[in-house]
Amino acid sequence: MKIKEALGFGIDALTYGLYLQDDKETKRHIESDVYFLLTSLLNSNRTYIKTNPDKELSKEDEEKFKSWLARRLSLEPVQYISGETEFYSLNFYVGKGVLIPRQDTETLVELVEKHFHDKKKELLFMDLCCGSGCIGISLLKTFPNSNCVFVDKHKAPIEYTLKNIKRHELEKRAKVIESDLFSTLNKDLRFDAIVCNPPYISPQDLKSVSMQITLFEPIEALKGGTDGLYYYRQVADSGQRFLKPSAPLFMEIGYNQSKDVCQIFKNWDKTTIHKDLTGNPRVVKALRPN
Ligand SMILES: C[S@@+](CC[C@H](N)C(=O)[O-])C[C@H]1O[C@@H](n2cnc3c(N)ncnc32)[C@H](O)[C@@H]1O
Repeated sequence: MKIKEALGFGIDALTYGLYLQDDKETKRHIESDVYFLLTSLLNSNRTYIKTNPDKELSKEDEEKFKSWLARRLSLEPVQYISGETEFYSLNFYVGKGVLIPRQDTETLVELVEKHFHDKKKELLFMDLCCGSGCIGISLLKTFPNSNCVFVDKHKAPIEYTLKNIKRHELEKRAKVIESDLFSTLNKDLRFDAIVCNPPYISPQDLKSVSMQITLFEPIEALKGGTDGLYYYRQVADSGQRFLKPSAPLFMEIGYNQSKDVCQIFKNWDKTTIHKDLTGNPRVVKALRPN
């Protein structure tokens, strides 16, 4: 099978087997899925796929590609199938039990970058609810003299964070702790910033989350208690004591949570809401009061 035949085969398989719709948006999603799988399979990029249409896939790669399409047909996300995804222009391992990093979350990293413009600073970050470790690792890469403590309650995220730290050769500047929020952290630690993308979906909103997500991604990474706001309350109550005076906290929020979250952080300093690239409220930033 040539690359161009694999592309056509993949697009047909997903069009008829999965999406059954023929609109522009669906076509774009299908093409993006097939390119994602092929580039990952061939360890290459879109340009390579486009400029080498007549290159033959090995028998092994052809079989693997077909088995990957079959997995995609059962709704499994392409990132779990290939075992990788990109975040903040870096590659991360992902798989069962760990949330796939979302592009929207890059807004949070950009805000931290803007807050501490001096990249050479020696900063200590806490990546709370770290999942794959994508936020903290992006910060360690952006601030080469910084250190980060990664915290998650669950085994799979802890393992993926460790693997991703190793992949990016950051072992010397990273520490990974299994903990229910701050419960087992050393109380003497004081951070220059806490970054956190917590589970924040309410039971009501969970009903409209796509099946691809609820079937495959870990529920403990999504559910934010009975109203979606559990983690904001916990962090607003206990986060201050782990921050240096006037140090910032950055937390991702749901599109409809700004008002409630601002209320929860009313005792913090300079609480502000920041939008993502699509114009939705995405991050709350608040400073530890002195
Ligand atoms: C929305 S995911 C975010 C993952 C990653 N930071 C990202 O942005 O892709 C939330 C993470 O919080 C973790 N988590 C859930 N409850 C927790 C708790 N009580 N303490 C620490 N981590 C928790 C989940 O295991 C999951 O990895």
